[in-house]
Amino acid sequence: MLAVTNFKGGSGKTTTTAHLAQFLALQGYRVLAVDLDPQASLSALLGVLPEVDVASNQTLYAAIRYDEERRPLSQVIRPTYFDGLDLVPGNLELMEFEHTTPRALSAGASGETLFFARVAAALDEVADNYDVVVIDCPPQLGFLTLSGLCAATAMIITIHPQMLDISSMSQFLLMTRDLLGVVRDAGGELRYDFIRYLLTRYEPQDAPQTKVAALLRNLFDDHVLTNPMLKSAAISDAGLTKQTLYEIGRENMTRSTYDRAMESLEAVNSEIEALIKQAWGRA
Ligand SMILES: Nc1ncnc2c1ncn2[C@@H]1O[C@H](COP(=O)(O)OP(=O)(O)OP(=O)(O)O)[C@@H](O)[C@H]1O
Ligand SMILES: [Mg+2]
Repeated sequence: MLAVTNFKGGSGKTTTTAHLAQFLALQGYRVLAVDLDPQASLSALLGVLPEVDVASNQTLYAAIRYDEERRPLSQVIRPTYFDGLDLVPGNLELMEFEHTTPRALSAGASGETLFFARVAAALDEVADNYDVVVIDCPPQLGFLTLSGLCAATAMIITIHPQMLDISSMSQFLLMTRDLLGVVRDAGGELRYDFIRYLLTRYEPQDAPQTKVAALLRNLFDDHVLTNPMLKSAAISDAGLTKQTLYEIGRENMTRSTYDRAMESLEAVNSEIEALIKQAWGRA
């Protein structure tokens, strides 16, 4: 189970998650994509419109809620038009978890699964049906994100190097550390097969960005993925029509633009696939 996360908005989480999910499905893995974001941009990118196609009790919330309307995750999962890729869609209903969790905590219902274990418990039910689960996190650190990170066994942290001046960078690091502390304090167990930083929307010809990238590699060493995801109009243009690079036809783009983006994308996704396989090998 792989979570794509960062608290910075717009760092490329959803784009990374959608393309990785489709890439893995194309390689023949059975993949489940989980939308943890009330904004549900992953669902939209995978062809499910959150306001139109997702009725109440049809998101992950249905399987982690505390009341009697809870239902198994298998009833919420839907296929996508991509072979081998299923989706747990999101919409605003996911916000409910932020409101009901404090109540559940103060009620202290015995025998209830605690909030940080609820996403894992829901996914457990369907785990046998999938090789890989990818989770798209929202840009906030709430109960839902925490529960998602507890369910994950690996983490990709997306970083757009332009956004990072030194101060926001150290803030980011402190938040990451705090986050892990919060979960541990709550009794959650956190052991990741791997945690990697992925440079997104990277422009190698931009001097400030290459400086930040070099700094990151200095700090985190081989915890930064070797391949960055290059900034490309092919990705953002496809995104405008809620499509991924795997869906949009090469004929609909400047070929060299498309090819460069695809090359970068495949390099990133292959590197992540190799890490997943490595983790399986150890298991
Ligand atoms: N490699 C890329 N090249 C060009 N544009 C990109 C690239 N990756 C992402 N984008 C664009 O950047 C914007 C933000 O990306 P994305 O939605 O994936 O970020 P996010 O981290 O999920 O945002 P949020 O925090 O709001 O959930 C989108 O418009 C997307 O099309
Ligand atoms: Mg997103």
